[in-house]
Amino acid sequence: MEAKLKQNYSSIFESDNGEAYFAPGRINLIGEHTDYNGGHVFPAAITIGTYGIAEKRTDKKIRLYSENFAELGIIEFDLDDLSYQKEHDWTNYPKGMIRYLIEQGASIDSGMNILFYGTIPNGAGLSSSASIELLTGVILNDLFQLELDMLTLVKTGKRVENEFIGVNSGIMDQFAIGMGKKDQAILLDTNTLKYELVPAVFGDYVVVIMNTNKRRELADSKYNERRAECEEALRRLQAQLSIEALGELDEETFEANLPLIADETLIKRARHAVTENQRTLKAKKALQNGDLKAFGELLNASHHSLQMDYEVTGIELDTLVEAAQKQDGVLGARMTGAGFGGCAIALVKETSLTPFIDTVGQEYLSKIGYKADFYKAHVDDGARKL
Ligand code: GLA
Repeated sequence: MEAKLKQNYSSIFESDNGEAYFAPGRINLIGEHTDYNGGHVFPAAITIGTYGIAEKRTDKKIRLYSENFAELGIIEFDLDDLSYQKEHDWTNYPKGMIRYLIEQGASIDSGMNILFYGTIPNGAGLSSSASIELLTGVILNDLFQLELDMLTLVKTGKRVENEFIGVNSGIMDQFAIGMGKKDQAILLDTNTLKYELVPAVFGDYVVVIMNTNKRRELADSKYNERRAECEEALRRLQAQLSIEALGELDEETFEANLPLIADETLIKRARHAVTENQRTLKAKKALQNGDLKAFGELLNASHHSLQMDYEVTGIELDTLVEAAQKQDGVLGARMTGAGFGGCAIALVKETSLTPFIDTVGQEYLSKIGYKADFYKAHVDDGARKL
């Protein structure tokens, strides 16, 4: 892959001096829509992601090309104008990284060429945007010898998403992609940023990524809406409770204080945030204890809560997950990521994989009218130079 991309780089940028980098995508095992509620998440970096071939220039031009958007050609802008431009399309992600790292004091004093190539299916909800952000961060860190630690790049990526792009996302995606380790899942407390690596070991089972192939179109606006609903529920609870985040509540305290929220929709949203956080902690223990059955049941409960209380699933994800859950050899299944389309995961016995894909794929096709894709998830290292 690397050699081929270097060749492409040479023919597009007319230079043989590009260096190779990679940033993964991520799956989230459990802990969905908890990261902006001060709760826990349990993601892992995966082998599919974004490759970059990059080189410094002597002038101030920044020239970016993506093999995934070849029809857009090279998108060019200047180091002296790093403003958001709609027509700069996907390059606003790397542009935001360059801009904020400079604002934060990094000495980036010349332009650069970067060729990007992503193996994450477009719109799959496996964090292709965070992957591009962290890839750019690692490239800049190396080309300009910035000596920034990974956590700084992670936080800068989140800042790009929130302030430059305008999606009010939490830190899970950038954290998983930056700090990922081969064969380890990350239990992250998003309140303190303390984390623990937990072996992603599933014995006779594998994690299957199931792509609905429904793009998460409403995702950004609905995402910000859910976040605002949780903030409002928190604000109402704070009238009596001294808490800073929904993630601080156990289920009992939450249920005892429902009258403070006094709105059905807000109660459902907050209930998801509270119960999902508790499920995440239980799931981490179950995985550590090798209790895959309990782990799988928690995945199912997570999906149910995302469907009924948080209402971020939709017919495509529900069809796929419900079909998966009833197959032999399946311990659990749930949507992963923001929802509204994108991907789900299932914990499937390796020996049942072929019939699983056939049956679930068939059921999805006949109900939805187009096909789903299935890939085995391999948990891998975070963003790096190759
Ligand atoms: C998106 C966001 C994350 C997280 C998930 C939902 O992936 O970028 O911060 O909130 O949705 O868990």
